[in-house]
Amino acid sequence: MQLKIRQTCLFFIDAVLINIAYYLAYYLRFGGKITAFYFETYFTSFLMVTVVTLISFSFFNLYRSLWRYASTSELVNLFLATTSSTAIEIIFIYVFKLGAPRSIILIAWMLIILLVGGTRFSYRILRNNKKNIDAFTHHKARTRLMIIGAGDACTVLLREIENLRSDAYSVVVALDDDPNKKNMTINNIPIHYGINNLVEVAEQKHIDEIIIAIPSASQARISEIMDLCRETSCTIKTLPSLEDMLDGKISFKLIRDKKNITSNERLWLSSPHMSDEGLEIKYVQEAFDTNWIAPLGNNVNMFEKELAEKVGSQYAAALVSGTEAIHLALKAAGVGQGDIVFCQSLTFSATANPIIYQNAIPVFIDSDYETWNMDPLALEQAFIKYPEAKAVLVVHLYGLSADMDKIVSICKKYNSILIEDAAESLGTTYKGRYTGTFGEYGIFSFNGNKIITTSGGGMLISNNEERIKKVQFWATQSRDVARHYQHSELGFNYRMSNIVAGIGRGQLQVLDQRVEKKRYIFDYYKKNLSSLEGIEFMPHNSWNEPNFWLTCITLSGKIKPLDIMDALERENIESRPVWKPMHLQPFFAKYDFIGDGVAQNLFETGVCLPSDTKMTDGDLNRVVTTIKKLWGEV
Ligand SMILES: Cc1ncc(COP(=O)(O)O)c(C=O)c1O
Repeated sequence: MQLKIRQTCLFFIDAVLINIAYYLAYYLRFGGKITAFYFETYFTSFLMVTVVTLISFSFFNLYRSLWRYASTSELVNLFLATTSSTAIEIIFIYVFKLGAPRSIILIAWMLIILLVGGTRFSYRILRNNKKNIDAFTHHKARTRLMIIGAGDACTVLLREIENLRSDAYSVVVALDDDPNKKNMTINNIPIHYGINNLVEVAEQKHIDEIIIAIPSASQARISEIMDLCRETSCTIKTLPSLEDMLDGKISFKLIRDKKNITSNERLWLSSPHMSDEGLEIKYVQEAFDTNWIAPLGNNVNMFEKELAEKVGSQYAAALVSGTEAIHLALKAAGVGQGDIVFCQSLTFSATANPIIYQNAIPVFIDSDYETWNMDPLALEQAFIKYPEAKAVLVVHLYGLSADMDKIVSICKKYNSILIEDAAESLGTTYKGRYTGTFGEYGIFSFNGNKIITTSGGGMLISNNEERIKKVQFWATQSRDVARHYQHSELGFNYRMSNIVAGIGRGQLQVLDQRVEKKRYIFDYYKKNLSSLEGIEFMPHNSWNEPNFWLTCITLSGKIKPLDIMDALERENIESRPVWKPMHLQPFFAKYDFIGDGVAQNLFETGVCLPSDTKMTDGDLNRVVTTIKKLWGEV
């Protein structure tokens, strides 16, 4: 039966059920008797009541698809639809003085939910049991398959199914988004156009099982298709990963069912997480509406202002990346040819590279176990060796704050300029003050993996207005104030775009939420993993309120970081080693290092666990279970 016809039937069934509900309501209200009053009010009230209720049902999408019968969301919609229509009816009865008593309306409200909900549930149960009944009556039904994607993967799959020589499956249709394949066939299977029509096609063709065979599709597209598949009552399966496909490993046996894919979706270390309210798109739209599609505009100005206000700094310059923010911070600090810069060794190379851009000389400083960041004792030793050092680049790694009181006082003592690389620590506070605001300059990164992201971007903050203005000037090609293009200084094209800044403004509003979730993730891991022998969690000092950008652990027992990373990868879960220190990097090996191996030890024993703010408890449990298995604890 066509979907439209079935929907119409359902519409009439509901109309009948609504009337039955009212009949019963009268029956119950008047002690098992139907009075003349019922017949009097029938034509004046019930027609209106039926129409209002059915309109309300349509409004709440109860006729959208027959497959959604008796899902939780459908029951919620039924409740809302019936409640809304009942409210409207009570108003109608008052306004038009229609005579039906309110008690009847309320009893009917309950009965409609019971009758309509009950019918839908029964339909669902019957439908789901159809196969069992068929098997019981010895008519073993073939599973009717629909394949999403009519490309190479589909061809291989059809061949595999044919090779099975089994009566169990019958491939009915393939769906594809390529208009050129419309009305064509693939191995004699008809191709229907439009993957987005899958709910209707599944309904029309009585599909039992859907196989998603588009291994090259993006994660986002697969999620969209999965959402559509869930609107059907079909079993959903997907092909193995793209790598398996390329390796020629694809086989029908390897197909994963939906239960596995939903639980086997890739878990990321830290991926972009836009606000639920769509705040970012609102600001981006503003940029489009005003045509400020440029590296300047209201979003750029406001993002600078809002971020500076949030962290308690006076001025900010929005730039294309955190790396370029470090570059211009060094330049603003007057670091140039041959100057020595003390740089934390345990960090990402983006901290150290700009020192080289400025033709300066990095000297790498070790970390301590208490903070994982720059060791104040090693810094003091470095100043004894190089008292002329121009600047200090301290990092707040993984959202943990360095011991700023000590570092600030050492920098003051040696009259050296302090720059904070707070790329990973936006939202972290040290003794109640935001990291990034202790030094002359602080920088943040909005790279895709950071706690808030603009896809890519950075911010330089300072309380020195003149220096920030200068940075903004350098970042826009150092254009002198002149009608013609005149440049008295070397320029850079480092300014943040107004579109990107729009994303940043929206993201900034959810920063506190993100920190809260990151803390939850840290606590979850700590609660579930800290009893395992040899595991230690990154330090959480009393004076440090981290943003917990990534939860990291170190291992000292028989299980090594690689064991954990391999085990997680096998479960499609991303994890990473702790940063490899700069003094161990081939490119930086020739520069001096002050310390005694803490950074190296943290690198060799550390693992960063997935800390994505979109992770559910189920996802966290997947990580925990995988790790616990290595200790034989599951
Ligand atoms: C510690 C650290 N510093 C600097 C950067 C550079 O930031 P960006 O990627 O925005 O250039 C990053 C991140 O990428 C980082 O983790």
